[in-house]
Amino acid sequence: MLPGSHAKLSWRNGLAYSEHFQDVYYNSDNGLLESDYVFLQANRLAERWLDYSEQSFTIAETGFGTGLNFLLAVKLWLALAPSSASLHFISAEKYPLNLHDMTTAWQQWPELQELSDVLTSHYPQALQEMTLNLFQDRVRLSLLIGDATNVYRNFRQKSANTKVDAWFLDGFSPAKNPAMWQAALLQEMALLSKPPTSFATFTSASAVRRELMAVGFNVNKQVGFAKKREMLYGHFTGTAHAQ
Ligand SMILES: C[S@@+](CC[C@H](N)C(=O)[O-])C[C@H]1O[C@@H](n2cnc3c(N)ncnc32)[C@H](O)[C@@H]1O
Repeated sequence: MLPGSHAKLSWRNGLAYSEHFQDVYYNSDNGLLESDYVFLQANRLAERWLDYSEQSFTIAETGFGTGLNFLLAVKLWLALAPSSASLHFISAEKYPLNLHDMTTAWQQWPELQELSDVLTSHYPQALQEMTLNLFQDRVRLSLLIGDATNVYRNFRQKSANTKVDAWFLDGFSPAKNPAMWQAALLQEMALLSKPPTSFATFTSASAVRRELMAVGFNVNKQVGFAKKREMLYGHFTGTAHAQ
């Protein structure tokens, strides 16, 4: 049996909406700016990639969705990192978009068309785990298909040496999508981290904050994007933090 099934979407003013979770894939004010603010800036990727001297950098995400976070990270990586280094982007997705929906979603962002054409021309129909080498091998995309906790557990057991440098926590809101914020997933996240692995997320839910602290992340709050009051970001220290 295949581990996932395709997402059921509808379109609201051209923006992808999940019928399954009754939630939007990204902010209706400006999803692109929100992704940049929440995931790229709060993980300090530009600072970390300028004068980057390591061979590779690993980002892991919960919830691939349309791949907007992925392509924004790729764009920044291609602009800043030396061509000898590679970005490994790992993302877990239980309900992958089908190719038609993926292509429709990307019509929203003509400014990223050069990159999204590469993604959509390689994006597979099959609902199975896959690794794609893209952008002259400067980027490796591993799509782990299935429930995030299970696929990250399997991934960790198979890839004992892989440690993540930055996490993008991007499930739907915790109230609508609790599986993407459960303690077991955050524990997997900790096992795949090493100080100073960073994380960022749009939510400021206190249960998420508490669980992240319990598994060894230092958690900060800052002003959220647009109408969102607060969001969380921080880094892994490896020791549980007082609540
Ligand atoms: C807010 S959307 C992600 C948006 C995405 N990062 C983007 O750039 O378009 C949340 C995603 O989490 C996925 N998801 C929900 N529950 C999941 C689960 N238990 N395991 C893995 N993925 C899940 C949804 O199918 C959806 O694609």
